[in-house]
Amino acid sequence: MMMSRMLRIAAAIAVSGALAACSGSAASPSPKVYTYKDMTVGFIQTGSESGWRAANTSSFKETATADGINLKFYDSQNKIENQITAFNQYIQDPAVNVIILAAVGTTGYDDVLKAAKAANKVVVIEDRRIEADASLYYTYIGSDFDKEGNNGAAAMCTALKGMSGANVVEIGGDQAASAAIDRAKGFREGIANCTDESIKILDTQSAPAWDPVQGKAIMESDLKKYSGQIQGVYAHNDELAIAAIQAIDAAGLKAGTDVKVIGFDATADGFKYLISGEMFADIECNPLLAPQVYKAALDALNGVTGQAAWVPSQEGQFFASQGADALKAILATRKY
Ligand code: AHR
Repeated sequence: MMMSRMLRIAAAIAVSGALAACSGSAASPSPKVYTYKDMTVGFIQTGSESGWRAANTSSFKETATADGINLKFYDSQNKIENQITAFNQYIQDPAVNVIILAAVGTTGYDDVLKAAKAANKVVVIEDRRIEADASLYYTYIGSDFDKEGNNGAAAMCTALKGMSGANVVEIGGDQAASAAIDRAKGFREGIANCTDESIKILDTQSAPAWDPVQGKAIMESDLKKYSGQIQGVYAHNDELAIAAIQAIDAAGLKAGTDVKVIGFDATADGFKYLISGEMFADIECNPLLAPQVYKAALDALNGVTGQAAWVPSQEGQFFASQGADALKAILATRKY
């Protein structure tokens, strides 16, 4: 009696399983959920042109180590053609599933972006914006450089307060970089809104590849050409601001008193010149982007949609007027 009951149950199970398989109701395999350990990132860095860039590179290397991400790193030596070469290498590398770009320039990336998309590689743009169809990359995480320029202009207006007809010279970063293009644009927008001063840009020159040696030469030339006429210097990063300060001092003038200098990045070196009073203001540019960028890449691998085309960096600004003690205390808390 018992045997026949067990046989009947076994037969029923066999039939229901067959029916489920035929009806397609058998469980289909769930999609793979990627983790950081599944990520092999090809990171195309601009180069090593500044303290900011060193901090940005450290952010990506240290975070990759901490999260177990396999990171392949390429230093482009500030040449766009090298970035195209690196892009193609990573597109052809079957191990790479994510490509991250810190762009030297703003254009020239369309073909490699299309090839990366065709090869199903996730692409995230970090640091600097590029001029390309946003459908060709997952997202852009980086600063609002135009807003930084507006803030630099407001600081210059404050620095030159009460001076009617004040003159400034600009020492720009590499003219191909969106950071330089937009800081220049934002500065011009901003000084037009100075309430008390009419600030005139006497001269503007760019330091190729953000080279501070070029920056110092530009300042030395300006000091000779516009002797006694320069009240302010607008420098596109801390290295260029410090180079300008060195040229100003070498010319027998006092940076912070005779000439007010505005810089960008708010690196530890920049803070030293805020603390000494030789730099009037330092507009922060946040290099510590790796955690956000890697998370976005992981979301892309897991098919997360609705990502914003641009995620602006969070950043502030610092002034010599905050006082040496307060600035030293802030500096002690910063990572770069
Ligand atoms: O894109 C950010 C800029 O690039 C930084 O302000 C500068 O130091 C670096 O070269």
